[in-house]
Amino acid sequence: MTTMSAPTTPDVDPVVAQAQAYAEKLLMLSEASVDRHFDPFEDIDWDAPDFDPNCKPERWVLVTSADPIGRHPWYQALPLDRKIEIGKVRQANVAKVGLQFEAILIIGMMQHIFNLKNNDPEFRYCSHEMIEEHNHTLMFQEMVNRVADVPGMNPLVRQLRHLAAPAGALFPNFFFMAVLAGEEPIDHIQKDILRSGDDIHPIMRGVMAIHVAEEARHISFAHEFLKKNVPAQPTFNKAVLSIAMPIIMFVLGRAIATPPKSFFKQFDMPADVRKELFYGSKESKRTFADYYVDVRALAEEIGLMNPVARKVWQLLGIDGPSSRYRSEPKRSAKHAA
Ligand SMILES: [Fe+2]
Ligand SMILES: [Fe+2]
Repeated sequence: MTTMSAPTTPDVDPVVAQAQAYAEKLLMLSEASVDRHFDPFEDIDWDAPDFDPNCKPERWVLVTSADPIGRHPWYQALPLDRKIEIGKVRQANVAKVGLQFEAILIIGMMQHIFNLKNNDPEFRYCSHEMIEEHNHTLMFQEMVNRVADVPGMNPLVRQLRHLAAPAGALFPNFFFMAVLAGEEPIDHIQKDILRSGDDIHPIMRGVMAIHVAEEARHISFAHEFLKKNVPAQPTFNKAVLSIAMPIIMFVLGRAIATPPKSFFKQFDMPADVRKELFYGSKESKRTFADYYVDVRALAEEIGLMNPVARKVWQLLGIDGPSSRYRSEPKRSAKHAA
C-alpha cells in the first residue's frame, strides 16, 4: 500500500514572507480607501436647514459622555446660553486642532514617501491617507468657519510642524508613533461621543461619523508600520524607541487634548476648575490614559514594553490595561446601563 506524503511547502524566506504579508495588508487598506471614502462637499449637505449652527443651538451644549468640561459641575451650573457659547467654541477648537494635526501629518508623510522605491506598497497607501486627511482638513475648516472663530493649538504646539518633515524623512518610527499619539485620542473621543447616543449638533455628528470611518484605516496603517519596522531594529534603537513611545504619547496627547490658554481666559474658567478638568483629578488622568489602551497593546506586541519603559508609562500616568483587540470598547461600567 502506498502512503501519501504530506505536501511539502517550499522554504520561504521569512523576510520575503513578511514583506509579502505587509504588502497584502497595505493593498487591502488601499482598496478599502477606494471602496469607501468621503468628500466633504458631496457627502455633507452644508446648506441643509438643520445644519445651520443656530438651528436648535442647545445641541451645542457639551455632552457628558466624552467631554470632561461637559461633566464638570462648574459648566453644568452655567446658564444655557453660556453653555451653548462654550460648547461651540470648545467643539470648533477641537476640529481646528484636528485639522492642524492632520496638516502636520501630511507634511511628514509626504517626506516619508518621497524616497520610496518603485513598487513600494507604502506609496499608494500613504497617498490615499494623505488625500483623506486633506479632505478632513477641508471638512473641519468648513465646520470651524460656520461655528466659531477659534485658534486651535497653543502657539508653542503649533511649532511642532517644523519637526514633522525631518521626522518623516529620517525617523519614520518616531514619526508614526507621533501619528498615533494624535490619532488615538481624537478617535477615542469621537467614538465615545457617537457610541453614547448623546444629542449633538448634526454638523458634529456628520463630521465625526466620516472621520471615524476613515481614521480606522489610518490607525491600522500606523500599527502595521510599527509592527513591521520596530522588531527589526537593533537592540539599542529598540531601547530608545521603548522609552520614547510613552513620552511621545504623553507630550503630543496632552498638546492635542488640552484647550489653548485663550479658551480658559475667554470663559473666565477658575484656575482650580481648569486644573481639575485637565489632568488634576483622578478621573481626568484615567480618561487620558484610556486613550492609549491600544497603543499599550501595540507596545507589548512589538517588544517595547520592557521594565524600564513600563516604569515610564507609569510615571507619566498613562499606564493601565492593554486592549484585547484594537478599538475594543471600554470595559469599565461607565457607559453601561
Ligand atoms: Fe483625519
Ligand atoms: Fe488620520
